[in-house]
Amino acid sequence: LEPTIIRTTEVHTPPTGLSTMPAGCQLKPLRIGALEIGFPIVQAALSGYSDWPMRMLAREHGASYSLCEVMLDQFLVTLKSERLKNQHFLYNSPEEQPVAGQLMGAEPEQFSQGAKKLVEAGFAVIDINFGCPVKKVLGRCRGGFHLSQPDVALEIIRRTRDIVPSHIPVTVKMRRGLDDTQQSRDNFFKILDGGFRLGLDAATLHGRTVVQRYNGPSRWQFLTEVKREFPDKTILGSGDLFTAESCLRMIEETGIDGVTVARGCIGNPWIFEQARALSSGRPLPPPPTLQEQRRVLERHWNLCAQLYGEARTGTLMRKFGIKYSASHPRHLDVRPDFTRIRTREDWWSVLDTWYSDDAAGVYPPVAIHEVEGTSCNC
Ligand SMILES: Cc1cc2nc3c(=O)[nH]c(=O)nc-3n(C[C@H](O)[C@H](O)[C@H](O)COP(=O)(O)O)c2cc1C
Repeated sequence: LEPTIIRTTEVHTPPTGLSTMPAGCQLKPLRIGALEIGFPIVQAALSGYSDWPMRMLAREHGASYSLCEVMLDQFLVTLKSERLKNQHFLYNSPEEQPVAGQLMGAEPEQFSQGAKKLVEAGFAVIDINFGCPVKKVLGRCRGGFHLSQPDVALEIIRRTRDIVPSHIPVTVKMRRGLDDTQQSRDNFFKILDGGFRLGLDAATLHGRTVVQRYNGPSRWQFLTEVKREFPDKTILGSGDLFTAESCLRMIEETGIDGVTVARGCIGNPWIFEQARALSSGRPLPPPPTLQEQRRVLERHWNLCAQLYGEARTGTLMRKFGIKYSASHPRHLDVRPDFTRIRTREDWWSVLDTWYSDDAAGVYPPVAIHEVEGTSCNC
């Protein structure tokens, strides 16, 4: 592996006169606790996606920080080292650091034991999931359910902060409430305020409620309110970040410290270098050409095979291929071919069919993400 790691700590100044970014906006380097992250547009936690290959590619394309897919405390506590099949969940490598391990669970004591496992596995930040809206998860009093029980949520934060060494930041991911009631809003602020008092180093806020799941837009205005309430704390935003411009715009409009790109970077690691270009005053780069896309498609397969073995890679890469196809000018024709992938030969055959010319690519249509979000899980 020869990753190109981009580290920056400079202040990014976007161009004046860009229609999507008001003149004079400055992106300050992101810091989480004692950790200097730098460029504040990072890769979100994405269950079923943000594994080591995806994080490596995000890193190589300019994301300075990323979050692993969520893991259950119960799973971590019972994970035996001989069960190689599941070890990939914990896999992280020095080239991609800093990476956060994210944890979900119901019971404070077990939660903190899970956090200990993530620390031992080498994650640089421990992130607590109080946002997942899946029915099964809520039914088991996990994820977004904690937004309805602030005392338990705070106990989870307290125990996690206690067990995680003080130099490792502890952060939380929240939706803006369970629903739109005043009680939900009060609970949200009780958890966040109490959490910061207990030593939380940052919070990532998704501007939808748990019951809203993915229906309707993410309420960015709520992020503005939260940042006003906690001006000295590190707040990251999430929700409807499908283009490089929208990432910069969320920071500018809300005053938050950084953003986590989620659906917008699946099969689209280029969004990070596009955001870097805009933030340093350069024009938006053109979409990657088909040859550039091919290089990433080949690398993604190879990283995946390195982690999981060739036999499992075909099934795992299908969903990524479908997402990558959105950057192809004939994506409606390319997409079905990725759904049939089983072997390395199948993958290379799709690349030979669709990615042999060096034609221009396209920016993924925003509508693709919006529709698919309705069936996702966190
Ligand atoms: C497929 C999928 C998996 C997700 N998995 C997680 C997860 O493991 N942990 C988490 O905190 N959020 C998870 N999320 C939520 C995202 O991180 C993000 O907050 C949400 O998608 C809103 O951002 P977007 O509208 O830009 O996609 C997931 C979202 C999707 C679509």
